[in-house]
Amino acid sequence: MTRIARAVAAIHESPTLAVDRRARELAQRGVPVISFGAGEPDFPTPPHVVAAALAACQDPRDHHYSAAVGLRELRQAIARKTERDSGLAVDAEQVLVTNGSKQAVAHAMTTLLDPGDEVLIPSPYWVTYPETVRLAGGIPVAVAGDPAHGHRVDPERLTRALTPRTRVLLLNSPVNPTGTAYTEDELRALGAFALAHDLWVVCDEIYEHLVYPPGRFHSLPALVPELQAHSLVLNGVAKSYAMTGWRVGWLIAPPAAARATANLQSHVCGNVANVSQRAAVAALNGPMEPLLAMRAAFDRRRHRLVEGLRSIPGIDCPEPDAAFYVFPSVSGVLGRTVGGRPVKTALELAEALLEAAQVAVVPGEAFGCPEHLRLAFALADQDLEEGVERIRTALT
Ligand SMILES: Cc1ncc(COP(=O)(O)O)c(C=O)c1O
Repeated sequence: MTRIARAVAAIHESPTLAVDRRARELAQRGVPVISFGAGEPDFPTPPHVVAAALAACQDPRDHHYSAAVGLRELRQAIARKTERDSGLAVDAEQVLVTNGSKQAVAHAMTTLLDPGDEVLIPSPYWVTYPETVRLAGGIPVAVAGDPAHGHRVDPERLTRALTPRTRVLLLNSPVNPTGTAYTEDELRALGAFALAHDLWVVCDEIYEHLVYPPGRFHSLPALVPELQAHSLVLNGVAKSYAMTGWRVGWLIAPPAAARATANLQSHVCGNVANVSQRAAVAALNGPMEPLLAMRAAFDRRRHRLVEGLRSIPGIDCPEPDAAFYVFPSVSGVLGRTVGGRPVKTALELAEALLEAAQVAVVPGEAFGCPEHLRLAFALADQDLEEGVERIRTALT
């Protein structure tokens, strides 16, 4: 009988992209949806980056295949930027340029895991992690963080989840969906745990530039140098430079693992589009002002959204340290009737809000954390305020 492979048949559509798709469909039908769903900056890519891409389009050298590992100029720019922003000295040879950091996550799992190997994933987590672990033959092990402390995990929580098959700690800081940024001390403790148990650490640092002052970003392998031989760092230009559509990310690995990931990529997809890579060079080597201006706008919206949601009875909204998400508990709302229907789970609440208030939010179930919603504040201030008012009306 013709059938598709079980591993792929078991994959679900990304719930965050599903919310976004439904919101777009409604908008196309003329429904005035306000979407807190999308995990991407609402700003255009900075003009000097677009100019570099236009120049690349006109240069015949960029019309052909290039090295699967990435353009030399981009790998050098990534190495320079990593030392500048994280204090982590790496060689350009350790860098693999990927189609967004999403592909870097998949490559990391395929490269590190044998069938049955377990990966510790602090929960709530980004939806793609467990799927890529399973696809690579591994077993995702969700480790619940402390809800009273930004859903952070600590060595104690991780130790309880250890087994002889544990091989990787997948650490995302700042975290999607909570906006938690681990502190220097917390990271040092997690690094000591990984060293003590001889684990690989995969550090997803995609939100590094979106930590709100006075908070600061810290990179685990820079803080715990002994971990550098066991660490893969994943990052990209998508969130920091409003370049989600350009699809440029990267992976930094110790030399042997870097070569293995490069071999993998050479057969899976070859090089990332040269035009996008040239744009990424311009972003990384260019001025930081556009990034700082975006961060200031997100910071303003962060305060507005937190304040607005806190004023709605039943919603408990901690202030995020970073990224452009809030992750409030809605347990105080569950059990009520919203838009004429009883709502018992965050999933049902998200559906009711879309129908009754035309507001798109992502239910916590998508991140392994029920009774919560994720709202992205990457939308215009006016839409944000209107969205909060619609939620208030629907819930009261
Ligand atoms: C934690 C995290 N890592 C990686 C990504 C993927 O980003 P990219 O657009 O570079 O593939 C996302 C996107 O939402 C994310 O939230």
